[in-house]
Amino acid sequence: MSRLSTILLLATTAVYASVTPAHESHTENKLPSNRWYHEDDHPVHALFKRGPVGDGIIYPAIGTPDWSAGFPPAIADTTTLPKAWVDALNTATAAGKIPDIPQSTSTNGLDPVYPSGYDPSSAIVCSSTAKCVTPGDVWDAPPGVIALSFDDGPLPASDQLYQFLASHSEHVTHFFIGTNILLYPDQFKTAFETNQDDIAVHTWTHPYMTTKSNLEVVAELGWTIELIHNSTGGRIPKYWRPPYGDSDMRVRAVAKEVFGLTTVIWNQDTDDWTLSEPVPLTTPEKIQQQMTQWLTGPKTPGLVILEHELSDLSVKSFMDAYPMMVSNGWTRTSLAQLDAGSVYQNAWNSTSQVIPAKVGDLAVKPPARASTTSAKPTATTVKQPASSSLSSGKPASSNKPLGNQKSGATHFSAASLALSGVITVIIAAAVGIIMA
Ligand SMILES: *[C@@H]1O[C@H](CO)[C@@H](O)[C@H](O)[C@H]1NC(C)=O
Ligand SMILES: *[C@@H]1O[C@H](CO)[C@@H](O)[C@H](O)[C@H]1NC(C)=O
Ligand SMILES: [Zn+2]
Repeated sequence: MSRLSTILLLATTAVYASVTPAHESHTENKLPSNRWYHEDDHPVHALFKRGPVGDGIIYPAIGTPDWSAGFPPAIADTTTLPKAWVDALNTATAAGKIPDIPQSTSTNGLDPVYPSGYDPSSAIVCSSTAKCVTPGDVWDAPPGVIALSFDDGPLPASDQLYQFLASHSEHVTHFFIGTNILLYPDQFKTAFETNQDDIAVHTWTHPYMTTKSNLEVVAELGWTIELIHNSTGGRIPKYWRPPYGDSDMRVRAVAKEVFGLTTVIWNQDTDDWTLSEPVPLTTPEKIQQQMTQWLTGPKTPGLVILEHELSDLSVKSFMDAYPMMVSNGWTRTSLAQLDAGSVYQNAWNSTSQVIPAKVGDLAVKPPARASTTSAKPTATTVKQPASSSLSSGKPASSNKPLGNQKSGATHFSAASLALSGVITVIIAAAVGIIMA
C-alpha cells in the first residue's frame, strides 16, 4: 500500500470513527454517500468502504414502508411467526421448561383470575399481579440506587421527556410497546440514536399476558423484539416488563426460555398513568408527596418506580421529582444497567458493537460481563411491594397508541372503582363543608 493511500485510509477511518456511532446501519441518510466522489466500481472505492457495522446487516431506515411492512400492524399475529420462534417454544415445552398452568381470564379489564384450584400466590402460579416474587425477576434496586425506566412509549409525550433527559445527561430504559414504535418512529429514533438510551420490551399490544396462550406470548414478545432488533442495528433486548405488571411462572418461563428475557416489575408505583384518565387515581400533588417520601426516606432497597411516558402529566411528575433524586444523593442509573451487565443480549449497550445473532436462537449468549460486578437487583423472597396498584386499563383498539390508558367506560379494576368511590365521597364531603 502506498504512503498516500495509507494516509487516505487513516484519514477516512478517523472521519468515520468520529461521526458514526455503532448503530449506523440505519443512519445512512445522515452520512456522506459512499460514492460521493467515486463510483462503486472504481478500484479506490474499496479503500473507503465502511467495515462491517452493527451486526453487518443493513436494515431498512426507521419509519420507511420497508421497515414496517413485515410486522403485524395491530394484533400480535400468531399465524406468521418465524419458524425459529415456534421451534424454540416447542423445544422448551418438550423439555418440560414451561409450567403447565392454565391461562387466566380478565373481564372488562379487571385483574386476571385463574380457574379454581390455582392460587395466584402459590409457588406453582406465582402471579406478579398477586405480588408473588420469583427469584430472577427484578423488583428492587441495590441500596442507594434509583433505577430509571419509562413504560408505554414511544408517544408524543416522549418528546419533552427526551429533551429533559438529554439536558441532564441521564440515560434511562424504555419499555416500548411494539405497535407504538410503528406509530412513532421519530420518537423511537430520538430515544435510541440521539439519547442512546436502553431499549426493552413492553409487548406488542399491551395485554394482560397471563391471559394469553404460550404461542400468543411468543407473538407478543417476539414481534416486539424483532422490531427493536431491526431498528437498532440488530440488538436483542434483555429485559421486558409485563403490562400491568401481570406475569406468572408460565409467562416468565416462555419469556426466558424462548427469548432469554428477564422479567422486570417495580417496587413503587405512583399511578401516574391515570393522570390523563377521566377519573385519575392520583394528582400531581399526591405524586410529589409520594416521591418526597420515597426519595428522602431509607435507601434500602433502592427504588424501582413505575413511571410512564404516556402523557404530559406523567412525564411532568418525573421531571418535578427529578431534583429530589439529585439533592438526596441517589445514584441514578438506567434500569437495564442495574446489574452492571450488558443492556442487550448481544451488545453491551446502544452504542457498542453487536455480536451477530438471530432472534429465537437459544444458543445466543450475552457478551462477557465487566469484571466489576455489583449487587444483583433481584429479589429472593416473596414480599409485598409497598404500593399495589398493578392493574386497570385495557388495550386500545388498533391504530391507536397503546398503553395503560383506558379506552372505554368500564375498564377500572375493582380497587380503582373502590378508590374513586372513596374520592367521590371525600369530594362530596369537602363540597358539603365549603357549601355549609
Ligand atoms: C428484520 O430484518 C431481517 C434482516 O434484514 C429481515 O430478514 C426480516 O424480514 C426483518 N423482519 C421484518 C418483520 O421485517
Ligand atoms: C456504552 O458502553 C461504553 C463502554 O462501557 C461506555 O463507554 C459508553 O458510555 C456506553 N454508552 C452508553 C450510551 O451507555
Ligand atoms: Zn404499560
